[in-house]
Amino acid sequence: RAFLYRLWKGNVSSKMLNPRLQKAMKDYLTANKHGVRFRGKRETGLSRAQLLCQLRSRAPVRTLDGTEAPFSALGWRRLVPAVPLSQLHPRGLRSCAVVMSAGSILNSSLGEEIDSHDAVLRFNSAPTRGYEKDVGNKTTIRIINSQILTNPSHHFIDSSLYKDVILVAWDPAPYSANLNLWYKKPDYNLFTPYIQHRQRNPNQPFYILHPKFIWQLWDIIQENTKEKIQPNPPSSGFIGILIMMSMCREVHVYEYIPSVRQTELCHYHELYYDAACTLGAYHPLLYEKLLVQRLNTGTQGDLHRKGKVVLPGFQTVHC
Ligand code: C5P
Repeated sequence: RAFLYRLWKGNVSSKMLNPRLQKAMKDYLTANKHGVRFRGKRETGLSRAQLLCQLRSRAPVRTLDGTEAPFSALGWRRLVPAVPLSQLHPRGLRSCAVVMSAGSILNSSLGEEIDSHDAVLRFNSAPTRGYEKDVGNKTTIRIINSQILTNPSHHFIDSSLYKDVILVAWDPAPYSANLNLWYKKPDYNLFTPYIQHRQRNPNQPFYILHPKFIWQLWDIIQENTKEKIQPNPPSSGFIGILIMMSMCREVHVYEYIPSVRQTELCHYHELYYDAACTLGAYHPLLYEKLLVQRLNTGTQGDLHRKGKVVLPGFQTVHC
C-alpha cells in the first residue's frame, strides 16, 4: 500500500517496483525493438500549465488520411472516412469519460457516473454487459490495438463490441515513423482487416492513428521524466486520454491511477493476475501515470475512492 500512497502523490520511481518488473523494463531498454533514438532534452520541472500547453501544441491527434506513401498510391484517400476524427464533434463534447479496463474498477459502482458523461471511451475487448453497475453501458469510442483486428479470438468482424461506435486502431510502428517500413512490417497486420472493414461498413467512423502522433506522445513522456523510460509506445490508456482531451472540454479518467481497490487482477473482465498490467512492463505505463497525476485537477478524495483523475480539455487551456 505504501507504493499506492506515493503514486497518488506522484512520488515513485521504477526502483520501487518488484524485481521482475524492473528486469522486464531493463530488457526492453536493451532490446529497443522499435529503434528509438531520443533526441529531445529532459526538462522535468515543468508546471501543470506548461505541460498542458506542450501536449496541446506538440501532440495534436493525427490519423492516416491517405495522402502519404504508400497509402496514397493504394487509394486510401477514398478509403478513410471523409470526416476526420477531429471534426466528428467540431464544437467539442462537454464532459467525457475514459474507462480503463483495470480489475480495480470491480465493485466501484461507478457505472451511473460514467454513463452520465456526454461520451465514453473504452479499450480493446472490454465489455459492458454484465458489468454495468461498475463500468456503465455507454460506449462512444473504442480504441483497439492491432491484435484485436488480427487475432480471430476477438471476433472483430462480428462482435457487437465493435459496432455502433467510433473505432480508433493503432499498431506499434518504427520510431522513425517511416510509413513504408511500417506498411511492409507492422507488428500485427491491421491494414488488411481495416480495408475489409471499411469496405463493408463505410458509414462507421474508423481511423488508424498516425505513428507520428504515438511517438510524439512518447517523446513528451520521456522529456518530462528523470529516468529512461521503456522505448516502446505508450499504452492505449494514455493514447485514449489524449484523444479525449482534444475532443472534450473536460475528461474524467477512471482507474488509470488506481483507487484503494488496487489489485493485481489485470482486467475486470478476465481472471488473470499480473502487476505489469497496472505498472507496466512493455509500455512506459508507470511514467505515463506519473505525468497524468501531475495534470490532475480533481480531488484527492475522488482519486482515492474512485480512482478518478479530472483533466481539462485542450480547448479550455490558455497558452
Ligand atoms: O489492457 P488494455 O490495453 O486493453 O487496457 C486498456 C488500458 O487500461 C491500458 O492500455 C492501460 O492504460 C489501462 N490499464 C491500467 N491498469 C490495468 C489494466 C489496464 O492502467 N490493470
